[in-house]
Amino acid sequence: MILISGRGSNLQAIADACHVRELPAQVVGVIANRASASGLEWAASRGIPTRVVSHQGHADRASFDAALAQEIDALAPDYVLLAGFMRILTDGFVNHYAGRLINIHPSLLPLFPGLATHQQALDAGVQVHGCTVHVVTPELDHGPIIAQGIVPVQAGDTPDSLSARVLQVEHQVYPAVAQWLAEGRVQIHGDQVSVTGVSR
Ligand code: GRF
Repeated sequence: MILISGRGSNLQAIADACHVRELPAQVVGVIANRASASGLEWAASRGIPTRVVSHQGHADRASFDAALAQEIDALAPDYVLLAGFMRILTDGFVNHYAGRLINIHPSLLPLFPGLATHQQALDAGVQVHGCTVHVVTPELDHGPIIAQGIVPVQAGDTPDSLSARVLQVEHQVYPAVAQWLAEGRVQIHGDQVSVTGVSR
């Protein structure tokens, strides 16, 4: 199950990997919090069930999260992958999916949590940047790290050029993690993660 808010390029990379690499996994559904999320159309074209749970019709985060959880649980996924899902989730929601809720963040956490990560990286003057796939915990962008992908920062980089380079790596790293999860190779022990048969 994958949750999106926009174009869904990570969703596409993961769904394609399930198909092309014949992973023992499938994307059982895609949920967006915006009807305009273009990733929905792509998912539907591939026969993947889609749902919209709009955050706008809910009085507070808790009622939105409850509606979201209801749609997710109806499809009984093993894992819930956040891929460009731009909503902060309540502790109750996160705890309901403890160990099964995964996110991709466009920076090398713990550096640059939050928004505008590419601008943050340029402002900090770092020479390397990248992405992190991590287990979601109640503290935003702080869960145990499963995998990271690194890109060099180049002279003259703008947030857009850096973002494009990081996105290419995201499309390698997230499908790889999906494969490890599908193969049952990811163990989460408190705030540590180990992956059997992979040196990270
Ligand atoms: C990615 O950069 C992801 O890391 C961030 O939002 C972006 C989503 O892109 N959280 P897409 O919708 O997967 O194309």
